Amino acid sequence: MNKQISIDVDALSKPLTYSTEAFLSRDYAEAEKEKLWPKVWQLVERVDDFKEIGDFVTYNIADDSIIVIKTGETSFNAFHNVCPHRGRQLVNAPNTVHSVRGNRRNFVCGFHGWTFDHDGNNTYILDKEDWQGALTPEHTCLSKVKVESWGGWVWINMAPDAAPLMDFLGRAGEVLSYFQLDKMQYKWRQWAVYPCNWKTAIEAFMEPYHVAGTHTQLLAYGDYYAYSAAHDWHGVSGFDQKGLDAKMSQGGSVTRVGKGTDARVSTYELARENFETLNYTGSTETLVNAAKRLVDELPEGTPAAEVIAHMMKSAKADDAARGVIWPEIPPEIMTEAGLAWSLFPNLTILQGVTFALCYRTRPYGDDPDKCIFEAYAMERYPEGEAPQTEWTECAPTAEKWGSVLAQDFDNMEWVQRGMKSRGFRGTLPNPHQERKITNFHRNLAMFMGTGEPRLLK
Ligand code: FES
Ligand SMILES: [Fe+2]
Repeated sequence: MNKQISIDVDALSKPLTYSTEAFLSRDYAEAEKEKLWPKVWQLVERVDDFKEIGDFVTYNIADDSIIVIKTGETSFNAFHNVCPHRGRQLVNAPNTVHSVRGNRRNFVCGFHGWTFDHDGNNTYILDKEDWQGALTPEHTCLSKVKVESWGGWVWINMAPDAAPLMDFLGRAGEVLSYFQLDKMQYKWRQWAVYPCNWKTAIEAFMEPYHVAGTHTQLLAYGDYYAYSAAHDWHGVSGFDQKGLDAKMSQGGSVTRVGKGTDARVSTYELARENFETLNYTGSTETLVNAAKRLVDELPEGTPAAEVIAHMMKSAKADDAARGVIWPEIPPEIMTEAGLAWSLFPNLTILQGVTFALCYRTRPYGDDPDKCIFEAYAMERYPEGEAPQTEWTECAPTAEKWGSVLAQDFDNMEWVQRGMKSRGFRGTLPNPHQERKITNFHRNLAMFMGTGEPRLLK
């Protein structure tokens, strides 16, 4: 991080603007390769995806490629994906595939056969004596990358002096740890190469302010006024319902009472709508079924808070009966956790007690107008019952991603194009509902040395 910023966190509540350089400029995208990506913690893959010792996964970020290898029951090593001899990628990792996976006892470079073990030590060099004794292990080993795990994910950081992952995650990590994300497993995982900058893409999932304009059909089921708050590098948003009912139930989370006169009916309708239009995430079958029974199990006129409490209690019991144990999350943490977290720079996690919907975006090579867009759903499953999934490349259609995500896709490309208009005077983010985004640009500017939000007046 290079730059001191003059906008402090309190100023994020004021009307601000920031330039479009971060989204459109080739020079900015080029600078990210030096100033951003080599310096931040980045999520690679689920821990569970590495089954055997020697299982490896490649992770590409802009021009860099990293190999993560499982080295023990709970240990991993990560290396830059490059042979120290003459620079061939050790594992061919094209951008046209999501990641390259496999299992190797050792890594043999395809060019001249130099060989490396799981610790990155060189174990074979053809005709080593030709170097006249000059080659030391420091010359010939793989270049190490920091690796840690949290939340059931493996993370890497290319900076040798990087602070520990939990320091970087801060309060976001503490709050999300209550959700035991590490005990969730993939329900589906999909990706696409999409025609917009990676920031344009992730920002489409950082605020519910767009629900009324984009997902108009959802207005029949709920109100979407939201708060948005900075948490150091990260940010959280939640539905802003100030009534007593909401406070006693689920704070600002996705599982809540819907809009309508009968909370038993509206809670079910909202849960069902979320589930069906978010590609069967944003809720679970257990929760939807428990919501469906509300009209039979509770008298008409039951207060909203009791409706939600009853639904959660019966869904928890239903899940326990099939071997899915919910974590105990204190009510004040539920409230603080809100709807969704953005983890700097490129992750969004919409968390529930038994599910999570996660997004990640990455640059696609050098092109500021393209990104790799990834979304995946996770759930708690009874032992051994999680579906077998793999990363699937999917066109950005409602059929593949659900109708709500298709509506989001239908903005992203046109935001990217619109921001290029010479008639665009600069962004006008909502000071209450889009603060996660201004905080994101504030944080980005600390790494990039440019693009700091400034007061509108
Ligand atoms: S580049 Fe790898 S062995 Fe020569
Ligand atoms: Fe959306």
